[in-house]
Amino acid sequence: MSNLNNNLIYRFGTVALLWAISFMAYGQKPAPLLQNAYHRPSVSLNGQWHYIVDPYETGYRNHRRWEPFDEFVNTKASAAPYWANAKKTAPSQRIEYDFERSPTLEVPGDWNHQQDELLYYEGTLWYERDFSIELQPGQRYFLYFGAVNYRADVYLNGQKAGYHEGGYSPFNFEVTELLKSGLNEIVVRVDNRRSAGRVPGLTTDWWNYGGITREVKIIPVPDVFIQDYMLQLDPEQPAIARGYVQLNEAKPGQTVTISIPEAKLSRTFTTDTAGRAAIVLSAEGLKRWYPERPKRYEVVLQSGRDTLLDQIGFRTIQASGQDLLLNGQPIFLRGISLHEENPMRGGRAYSREDMALLFGWARELNCNMLRLAHYPHNEHAARLADELGLLLWEEVPVYWGINYTNPETYAQAEQQMQSLVQRDKNRASVIIWSVANETPREDPDRLSFLKSMAGAVRQLDTTRLVSAALDRTEDKQEKRVTVTDPFAAYSDMVSVNEYIGWYGSTPERIPQMRWDLSSHDKPFFISEFGAGALYNYRGAREEIWTEDYQAWMYEETLQMLDEIPSLRGMTPWILVDFRSPRRNLPNIQDGWNRKGLISEGGFKKEAFYILRDYYAKKAAQYRYDIKN
Ligand code: GCU
Repeated sequence: MSNLNNNLIYRFGTVALLWAISFMAYGQKPAPLLQNAYHRPSVSLNGQWHYIVDPYETGYRNHRRWEPFDEFVNTKASAAPYWANAKKTAPSQRIEYDFERSPTLEVPGDWNHQQDELLYYEGTLWYERDFSIELQPGQRYFLYFGAVNYRADVYLNGQKAGYHEGGYSPFNFEVTELLKSGLNEIVVRVDNRRSAGRVPGLTTDWWNYGGITREVKIIPVPDVFIQDYMLQLDPEQPAIARGYVQLNEAKPGQTVTISIPEAKLSRTFTTDTAGRAAIVLSAEGLKRWYPERPKRYEVVLQSGRDTLLDQIGFRTIQASGQDLLLNGQPIFLRGISLHEENPMRGGRAYSREDMALLFGWARELNCNMLRLAHYPHNEHAARLADELGLLLWEEVPVYWGINYTNPETYAQAEQQMQSLVQRDKNRASVIIWSVANETPREDPDRLSFLKSMAGAVRQLDTTRLVSAALDRTEDKQEKRVTVTDPFAAYSDMVSVNEYIGWYGSTPERIPQMRWDLSSHDKPFFISEFGAGALYNYRGAREEIWTEDYQAWMYEETLQMLDEIPSLRGMTPWILVDFRSPRRNLPNIQDGWNRKGLISEGGFKKEAFYILRDYYAKKAAQYRYDIKN
């Protein structure tokens, strides 16, 4: 056989192999999410990253064939893909980008509030930074992102680590093979375009902040490590804490030790053939976690060369008939809804300080609960709520109209739910998983979509409540309000958004309305009500957009809701004004939804005090004993 043929076969062989490798790398999804990455020692990659705005995807796709470069060329051959991060090495070499000479953005942080010209930008933007790390033998390395909105394609030293979709979920890639001791470079393509197949879909009433919105870090772990664990009180037998520890490998006979030093508790367990140890601990000696006494214990989990510390509070939450029971006692959820936005600084909230600002306002409102709308907020939220004693409703953005018949859309929604449960399942503060908000009740595809979501959550966690924010049914003639949404039957509590007095009517209609929930023997919850008001705009109560109109709306609504025997809580819409591209009334909205009880400048509106005082009364009405 001639050289030529040999050559050709050799070439074809190599190209085929490289293509296969690049395809495999291209298609790589994240590794299973590390449990408690929050407390694992790590190397932070936060800080200033270079960026290139790339609306035409010049650095990602071939301009004619439009398919991604990383599906085809091997990295070294071409400088075109921005993830090659090519540097000019010869005078006549033509490279039409250069991260080093490009401006920077702060990570974590959305790009919209950092650069005026990016405020409305939706598209592709590239991030790049260098970093040094000394690799240790016998260690494995994971690259962890708190969240990137929406799709992230991640490259390390010119090689693809993988990609992730979902704008509010944590993810990590194993990068042990891609990292090197010394200088490394990371490039991330971020695409925050809205599309019908994504979750959320094309329309939301919040700002589509793009970018690497939460922390980035490298996490070293031993070869065999604790991949996952859960430890919660058994709602049926609250004297017992149950759970499991899962190693990253199916290693039977491994010893796992769980210790709670403060309670002088320490027990060892053994893994089964799947590398999983079932945990059963007596909780007799453990103080219960209450909002009024948010007791957490340091829990030490140890197996082989791996030790993990966590702070866990122990409490039970149940729905019993029309009651919500916290540690077996009736509770009223005095809540408020909020978006993950720091109005003072602008942009997506991401830090402990951001959440402390928002939670501080909620405390002033006499809240014992928060609805984190409409997507998973950063992990500081649940950690801080555990510490401060605030109960949480957490949700995934199955919001309004998404593509309920598209299996890919379902896979994304379920994936977002799974990573949320995975991240926050050991948090005492989290009591409700919500699978949707205001979705079309007549649509049978939507119903099966939500039923599957609820089923998936209950597979992962049997210790918390599952719900969704539903629409009410109003008989205008009869002035009767009911809930006919079929999903209520699959929900542990019936949660409804109601805007009587704002959408479609004015507040004087509220006292005339009669709620009939006799067909639901479940706790009833108002997940939203509210009215828009511009801070400091005062006038007659009938004058829409005034604080007076909003206050009137609150007074009437709270009175109406108090008539409902099965009402067990509420999260009015909303704690603070927030950015929305759907709100465009000049000199009133100007791109802000004004239903906040606090303005974006931090100023409290009249209605804030009405709700605060109402909650003070509710707290007295629903007092319970802090037992043990
Ligand atoms: C809806 C929706 C919110 C929205 C609010 C409003 O109910 O769930 O996301 O912001 O109403 O109209 O202000």
